[in-house]
Amino acid sequence: MVHTALKAFIHLSSLILPLALTTALSTPSCRFANQWTSEHILSSSQAFEDALLFWEGKFHQHNVSYNAINGMTFDGTLLDIATGTHRVEGLHTFSAASKESSHLMMLAHAIEGKPGAVRWVLSGEGEHNVVDVDKAQKVAAGVLQRKWESYSQFNETFPGFGGFLPWFAHTEFNPLTPTWDWNNRVPALDNGENIWAIYATIEALKNTGNKDYVALGSKWEGYLNYLKSTAEKIFYRGSGRICAVTSIHDQTLPIDHPEQTYTCEGLDSGGNPFINDPYEGQGFMFFLYLFGNLDQTEKAALLELKRPQLVSADWSMPGYQNVTVQKGFWFSSHENWGWMQLPYIDIPFMKDLYTNMERARTCDSQAKKLPGMFASINNSTDQNGEIIGYISNAGIPQIANQTVQELDVITPYSTMNTMMVNKTVGFLWWHNMATAKRMQNLYGSSESTRIDGTATSAFVSWDSKITTVNGILGGVLSLVRSGMQRDGIYDEFIKVVNDEYRLVFDESLGDTSQDFCLPDVKVGDLGLADFTTCS
Ligand SMILES: *[C@@H]1O[C@H](CO)[C@@H](O)[C@H](O)[C@H]1NC(C)=O
Ligand SMILES: *[C@@H]1O[C@H](CO)[C@@H](O)[C@H](O)[C@H]1NC(C)=O
Ligand SMILES: *[C@@H]1O[C@H](CO)[C@@H](O)[C@H](O)[C@H]1NC(C)=O
Ligand SMILES: *[C@@H]1O[C@H](CO)[C@@H](O)[C@H](O)[C@H]1NC(C)=O
Ligand SMILES: *[C@@H]1O[C@H](CO)[C@@H](O)[C@H](O)[C@H]1NC(C)=O
Ligand SMILES: *[C@@H]1O[C@H](CO)[C@@H](O)[C@H](O)[C@H]1NC(C)=O
Ligand SMILES: *[C@@H]1O[C@H](CO)[C@@H](O)[C@H](O)[C@H]1NC(C)=O
Repeated sequence: MVHTALKAFIHLSSLILPLALTTALSTPSCRFANQWTSEHILSSSQAFEDALLFWEGKFHQHNVSYNAINGMTFDGTLLDIATGTHRVEGLHTFSAASKESSHLMMLAHAIEGKPGAVRWVLSGEGEHNVVDVDKAQKVAAGVLQRKWESYSQFNETFPGFGGFLPWFAHTEFNPLTPTWDWNNRVPALDNGENIWAIYATIEALKNTGNKDYVALGSKWEGYLNYLKSTAEKIFYRGSGRICAVTSIHDQTLPIDHPEQTYTCEGLDSGGNPFINDPYEGQGFMFFLYLFGNLDQTEKAALLELKRPQLVSADWSMPGYQNVTVQKGFWFSSHENWGWMQLPYIDIPFMKDLYTNMERARTCDSQAKKLPGMFASINNSTDQNGEIIGYISNAGIPQIANQTVQELDVITPYSTMNTMMVNKTVGFLWWHNMATAKRMQNLYGSSESTRIDGTATSAFVSWDSKITTVNGILGGVLSLVRSGMQRDGIYDEFIKVVNDEYRLVFDESLGDTSQDFCLPDVKVGDLGLADFTTCS
């Protein structure tokens, strides 16, 4: 059945253009996606990947995605709506631990010498030779050193955070401070994502065997050890309860100061102040579980709190085979962030489950005749180039807990998990979105496009772009796996995941005969003008 679908697809797609091949071998052009056909991607997926990583690497520049002075991420930047160049006054001079997570994963890949990450880093540096591993390692290590200094300085100035990061603001000349709305507050979920990226970075640095890089790894290890020592006090309230956001009495007081206090935000407001999700919130939970020095009763309670939300769901659609998945919150791609960090898929049925989720994601869009897939995403920009809103509730209602969704905007990063399970299929969906008007710019792919082609977002961000790149690079599973083995916690991790998921899922869930599905419609072309600097 694989082959029938693919053959039909190849049949429908147009001729191979020799142009695409020649372009792929030299520097790819900015709007390279338009020069590729689906058939050509199938036959030369490595060259397509090279072009994609080359352009996504242009995002990694000073004042676009990060601050080269202090090594810290910026959230993203608005683009000039006509030219597509980054707007200096449209730079988001703030960021959060989740963006740090993406950045650290990329730097870890570069330290490992993965060719795709080497290309990404060196392209950002403006290099033409994008295969020099030593040079890429040197660049990555420089950023990691400055980043470590920034984290340490922040911890010194605001010891109340215990080393964790709130949303923070900074510029070339101003050190990190909490953003105005994150004074005395800190979120667990984003920090959980960042912790496993730090963990992978330490492993990558240590594995180099290079004296300087190993020493830098030890600095980061010292930082991580500090987080292990403060995590419980700041976030854990006993009986399995992790604060979603912790309210700090005074961020400038040390954690053990007599006047310092930590409470879960929203305890009195009737909402849920605890992280009970079995999606992205698992990263922090596993950190606490494996490193928090909790006793067996508390560890069991941590797992128990997540159980009610871990639910099996069947995706079904006339003309397709049923596919068993883990029910999502919205079933946004973003929810599966942790699958590119923790080695869940070392367990065969977990790999089937992960694969099934991408079968459902790709087939749902194909069945609904959509040109792309859904994930929580920033809406289009208006005529002044300002973002008009954030669409959290985007995914697949049929297999989601939250069934009221806004399904009018698609984003290339909806493929981040598809890339992990089958890169070619991921590329074909990414390509189908990137070929829409205004969806490529000087920094790679753009944030999002309306399905009907009436508007796009002149914005670039870590979440909408580098998640996908990390997926293409296979996530940091291999680094986290070897780190866990070195720390002697790998078997425990595998056992816990196996036990918890087996309470809900049957080993036969991989028996579906439904293959991935490919796109067969395009975003409407209503004459929107492409960015003038990207051709
Ligand atoms: C990816 O999926 C396609 C379509 O199902 C299949 O032909 C191909 O063998 C898969 N590739 C890998 C590496 O699994
Ligand atoms: C970086 O962006 C800031 C605005 O956030 C601006 O003041 C500064 O001049 C920019 N630096 C460079 C080198 O463009
Ligand atoms: C963070 O700051 C505290 C309080 O000054 C200090 O004790 C601790 O060593 C610092 N940790 C790191 C990793 O810099
Ligand atoms: C597929 O799922 C639908 C809806 O849940 C159900 O009605 C149908 O019986 C299932 N088909 C198979 C073959 O299991
Ligand atoms: C997104 O933009 C569309 C078009 O302007 C609008 O209808 C919709 O309400 C917006 N949604 C959000 C959440 O901003
Ligand atoms: C969503 O999750 C809540 C809390 O577990 C549950 O009570 C509710 O039934 C779920 N709704 C759906 C549609 O799955
Ligand atoms: C949307 O914008 C916010 C704020 O700029 C940013 O933090 C986030 O990463 C963006 N989300 C996605 C999915 O691109």
